[in-house]
Amino acid sequence: MSYDIAAEITELKKKKNVAILAHYYESGDIQDIADYVGDSYYLAKMGQEVSQPHILMCGVVFMAEGIKILNPEKTVLVPDLGAGCSLVSGAPYDQYLQWRLKFPTGIAVTYINSSAQVKAISDVIVTSSNAKKIIEAIPRNRPILFGPDKHLGAYLAKESGRHFELWQGSCQVHVLFSAKKLYQQTLEHPDAVVIAHPECDENVLQYASVIGSTSRLLEEVHKNPARKFIVATETGIFHQMKKVRPDAEILQAPTADETCGCNDCPFMKLNTLLKIKAALLNFQPEIKLEENLRAKAQVALERMMTISSSQPGKTPSGKPVIWPEIFTCPTFPI
Ligand code: 13P
Ligand code: SF4
Repeated sequence: MSYDIAAEITELKKKKNVAILAHYYESGDIQDIADYVGDSYYLAKMGQEVSQPHILMCGVVFMAEGIKILNPEKTVLVPDLGAGCSLVSGAPYDQYLQWRLKFPTGIAVTYINSSAQVKAISDVIVTSSNAKKIIEAIPRNRPILFGPDKHLGAYLAKESGRHFELWQGSCQVHVLFSAKKLYQQTLEHPDAVVIAHPECDENVLQYASVIGSTSRLLEEVHKNPARKFIVATETGIFHQMKKVRPDAEILQAPTADETCGCNDCPFMKLNTLLKIKAALLNFQPEIKLEENLRAKAQVALERMMTISSSQPGKTPSGKPVIWPEIFTCPTFPI
């Protein structure tokens, strides 16, 4: 009898009442055994919506921490506690606090790719799928401090026409795309639609006709009748893109070194079916957060969930409605 680990995982998750969530950057075999697959905002939302008391988050640790911050009563498991992120490690709490203190009247808008400590000294969290909406909800007279991703921050500053103070962090995967080679690729494939994640450098983004979160990029491939796409983001998303558009040619945007396979996020790819099975059997590794820290981080994360899921509407002059609570920054100074 052949050994079917996927079937075992399906059996175990049912028996133990665990919901499995997976990010689009996980390998295809992990996406296929998950109950929910999506981008970081969708996964945070599903963490709140699933009925199971236990969640196994197949992604990176900050995603699992986000679920724990919002759902302290749930057990949150991960396949590998070593699944970090260069944005998280590039924004150590002490240095981030010093930077935050330099702009006491600013609104600290923090990318979800950050530690729980950094979230706890932030005013509002964003993901790449809801950041524009959240920035619109902040009064224009308040300076914006954005971190840890300088590329996403620069993109949002440009889109909103506002000045941002930027923390100088970056995603080690998305910075590797080569603008020069991408330009060459567009010449070789003039019929291809270029789509990119906003964690890419602006020199790469300038060639993209669609810039968005992983789910936005997937939606574009799904709905755009074009037959060829050049995709500047992590390779895991190709799994769903090929499923929704088996007729289309999906090309990876080039990196400077094309032999390195470096558009695989090494942290996301630490997770395996074997580790998932072990986590379900042993109920660990488990995400644990000190309660005071969790509660502080929850304020900024809950704001993101509220603003993202609401329809703030427009004023009679057509301007977006500003969320009054954002004026007061109750979490800061801590
Ligand atoms: P998304 O919010 O698009 O899922 O991005 C998460 C991420 O880590 C990108 O590198
Ligand atoms: Fe972090 Fe980049 Fe990996 Fe996303 S792809 S988890 S931002 S290192």
